[in-house]
Amino acid sequence: MTPAGRDDPAGGDAERESIEIDLLLEGVYRRYGFDFREYARASLRRRLHRRLALEGLHTISGLQERLLHEPECMERLLLDLSINVTAMFRDPTFFRTFRTKVVPLLRTYPFIRIWNAGCSTGEETYSLAILLQEEGLYDRTRIYATDINEAVLHQARQALFPLEKMQEYTENYVAGGGTRAFSEYYTAAYEGAQFDRSLGDNVVFARHNLATDRSFNEFQVIICRNVMIYFDTPLQNRVHGLFYESLLRLGVLALGPKESLAFTPHVDQYDVLDLQEKLYRKVR
Ligand SMILES: C[S@@+](CC[C@H](N)C(=O)[O-])C[C@H]1O[C@@H](n2cnc3c(N)ncnc32)[C@H](O)[C@@H]1O
Repeated sequence: MTPAGRDDPAGGDAERESIEIDLLLEGVYRRYGFDFREYARASLRRRLHRRLALEGLHTISGLQERLLHEPECMERLLLDLSINVTAMFRDPTFFRTFRTKVVPLLRTYPFIRIWNAGCSTGEETYSLAILLQEEGLYDRTRIYATDINEAVLHQARQALFPLEKMQEYTENYVAGGGTRAFSEYYTAAYEGAQFDRSLGDNVVFARHNLATDRSFNEFQVIICRNVMIYFDTPLQNRVHGLFYESLLRLGVLALGPKESLAFTPHVDQYDVLDLQEKLYRKVR
């Protein structure tokens, strides 16, 4: 066998870098409590290299040094690692199906708790609030919208979104089964589209790390879309364990079209409510 790093310099470099990344992630976890050790490696590596270049550094260990000594650098890396892309009524068919298949179930409860995990800047959360208001359920609902990243939560609380996005969001809203004029929900101002403050009345935005934090309530619905794609399989499975524990019996897990419960240890504990939109109902 050829020991990596001698006859195989490229392999040796890769191995050394992999160890440096392990050390950096371990250091970040110990110093700040943010656990990226089980995030999918290829995209993590790309993002670390991007941060390295932006900081004007040359080595992963140099980046580690700066991260451990400068909390501001950690905040910048956090923004790099937690990809925050989102949109109102994103994947509109998800919201259409939510109206037809989940809302009738929710009508049977006197009080509804929903966990929107990985809510980013809040577009998904306000979309839900609008949908529930139109269905006459919002007054008896509390939405817990959580994210690992305090900067996006701060933005979410403002309910202020770029005006130039409104055309796209209006189209999504209509495709998602919206029945009113979307412009009723916001006021166009110089800074952007200010959404109706009452939409946030029953929302709590709070920091929660899916990789390390525990369950904090029991919910009729958990929505977590486009978040677990960044996790490796063991972490995905752990988060599914957390969701299972946090759902009431007959509660709904909503993963959206890009993710699935298939091949997780929890698949047998749920019935499929909608295969396309990955809506599952906890039955065991
Ligand atoms: C691509 S956005 C998805 C936003 C929204 N759910 C959607 O589908 O439009 C992913 C979000 O997951 C958050 N996230 C990443 N890792 C997380 C973790 N360990 N715990 C909680 N949130 C996390 C990121 O900060 C980011 O805001």
